Amino acid sequence: MSFKEKIDFQRLPKHIAVIMDGNGRWAQQKGQHRVFGHQKGVDSVRQISEAAAELGIQYLTLYAFSTENWNRPKEEVDALMELLVHTIHAETETLHKNNIRLHTIGNTDSLPESCRRELNDAVERTSRNTRMTLVLALSYSSRWEIMEATKRIAQDSVAGKIDLNTLSADQFSTYLTTAAYPDPELLIRTSGEHRVSNYLLWQIAYAEFYFTETLWPDFGREAFYEAIVDYQSRERRFGKTSAQIVTDPA
Ligand code: IPE
Ligand code: IPE
Ligand code: MG
Repeated sequence: MSFKEKIDFQRLPKHIAVIMDGNGRWAQQKGQHRVFGHQKGVDSVRQISEAAAELGIQYLTLYAFSTENWNRPKEEVDALMELLVHTIHAETETLHKNNIRLHTIGNTDSLPESCRRELNDAVERTSRNTRMTLVLALSYSSRWEIMEATKRIAQDSVAGKIDLNTLSADQFSTYLTTAAYPDPELLIRTSGEHRVSNYLLWQIAYAEFYFTETLWPDFGREAFYEAIVDYQSRERRFGKTSAQIVTDPA
């Protein structure tokens, strides 16, 4: 029986965030170069994006390249950028046909010009799609994002546009790159690493974490369904007691 049949469609997460990890190890285990793993990882991106859209997930945010990943060997960074350009170019029409909107978060100004152009075209081409928003975190790190938000809040405060005395967490969120999305209810990380690696630190305050040993290129639809079934078995208490949740699920 597929895990898909165990999914309760009434209680789907609206937003799933994924740390796609393990491409390099996957390739090395096969005696291949790390870049081969990144190439295979694209197949998983395609499968998980389609599976999420088909299920009715509204937002899927994939960590594709972190601020810290700039510190990798230049040849790996170059290969990743090339793969990004190629993949966006090749996949935009499919995304569009599937009614999926592409967004990016992160310091995309730091990406090579060819990447920026391909991304801008894809974001524009898919901008009116409504089924799901696929968000790629590129040159993204949470501390960068929170710093940027803080600077803009300070500027707006000096300009008299906001009152710091009444600044709320909700208002703070509007300064983040994720302002348009609800917080992820589920965070998946593949490859057996149990850390967050500077990803969506503010937004995952109450997310359920799902860690799997599976390396990203091996993470397919069934593994994704399994993560959702696991998420649905959790009791989300938000600081309340279990008894409160049972009597007042709201
Ligand atoms: C994730 O796989 C992809 C990126 C970070 C770009 P890794 O490249 O981190 O693979 P491992 O963790 O070294 O196996
Ligand atoms: C996190 O993976 C970033 C992405 C998946 C893009 P890393 O492989 O870079 O994370 P660390 O360095 O092992 O924490
Ligand atoms: Mg890694």
